[in-house]
Amino acid sequence: EIKFSEQSLALVNRIIKRYPEGRQKSALLPVLHVAQAEFNGWLSPPVMDYVASLLSIKPVEVYEVASFYSMYNLEPVGTCLIEVCQTGPCWLRGSDDIVAHLENKLNIKVGETTADGMFTLKTVECLGSCGTAPMLQCGAKYHENLTTDKVDALVEDLRSANVRSTYMK
Ligand code: FES
Repeated sequence: EIKFSEQSLALVNRIIKRYPEGRQKSALLPVLHVAQAEFNGWLSPPVMDYVASLLSIKPVEVYEVASFYSMYNLEPVGTCLIEVCQTGPCWLRGSDDIVAHLENKLNIKVGETTADGMFTLKTVECLGSCGTAPMLQCGAKYHENLTTDKVDALVEDLRSANVRSTYMK
């Protein structure tokens, strides 16, 4: 059965209380974040149904929102989710090379997960760190002014760190 932990449920209830009765839908984005962090980094249909029931809205309203924003994953993701910014400033400073390097190194394409379940590679829109382009996000951490050497070091670090998960909490 899909159910939030007590801690997450308390957080979700605090979020819902911020909005007036009948406006629970406004809590959807932050609640989806909590759900994604709780349920292995992605939003399965049963998880989205659960969120809909908590907010007293229709499941289809949750699906629409979850599929609109790139920060929500609708497929299972690896232990480490690597999100490379590909918007203008990062692109001008070589984000394509960073993505190609990661694809080669991890032997996957954007949107895929390595066979060992360790890494998922995504491209995303501007993460608000354009001054340090090109950059990527892994969990809650930004990795900036990237070079292929820095990417290699990051992947090695993650591999050796015995990371449990890098999903945002
Ligand atoms: Fe990449 Fe803004 S364009 S962080």
